[in-house]
Amino acid sequence: MTPHIEAKKEDIAKDVIMPGDPLRCKMIAEKYLTDYKLVNSVRNQLAYTGLYKGKRVTIFSSGMGNPSMGIYSYELFNFYNVENIIRVGSCGAFRKELNLYEVVLVENSYSTSNYNYELTKENDRLLPGNKFLNNAILKTAEKLNIKLNLGNVYCTDVFYNDVDKEYLSKSFNCLATEMESFALFSNAKKLGKKASTILTVSDNLITNEETSPEERQNSFNQMIELALETIINK
Ligand code: HPA
Repeated sequence: MTPHIEAKKEDIAKDVIMPGDPLRCKMIAEKYLTDYKLVNSVRNQLAYTGLYKGKRVTIFSSGMGNPSMGIYSYELFNFYNVENIIRVGSCGAFRKELNLYEVVLVENSYSTSNYNYELTKENDRLLPGNKFLNNAILKTAEKLNIKLNLGNVYCTDVFYNDVDKEYLSKSFNCLATEMESFALFSNAKKLGKKASTILTVSDNLITNEETSPEERQNSFNQMIELALETIINK
């Protein structure tokens, strides 16, 4: 047990999928897993462990933002011997041609967050997703016929910001923005573990188009299937 996770060590799988929203974890467990059980409910940060096509997997909610993702992924890697984490989330697109519901595979997370410096005393602002996991995701997407947009994201600590999207897009190849990948990649690097992030576009910050909750759920399912199939195929 840790200050934030009540699960027993043996109740967490080596492979973890992390959505932000606790209720998404419940939905994923109910829709995709067999023999699943609730393994954490501290602060309602729900987590379930079960079988996907016979392979053990844990679905653990990260909460929103780098500090929350930072706590849970650190504890999972460091105290629960988790080896692989795939974050599945949403993002706001920085390019008008990146349509709603398209899927982004994060090559690098760019951030001005202090998370990585405080953890590692290294000043990297561009942290990579794991190459092995990313390759497995690419191969699986090809098999499932899911188009992936490969590029960087801007990982912000401030949802209500006013950043220069064109500059971030041009100078750092940031296709989109989200709020959790930087802490996840920083923890993975520090602890010698593997982490990747896949995102669906929930809003386009150039055209101001937004998804409806129902359509968001459908595109989310496609991304979950990609993450689950990656775990059994890697
Ligand atoms: N900003 C930050 N994170 C996000 C956004 C956004 O516009 N959309 C989805 N996640």
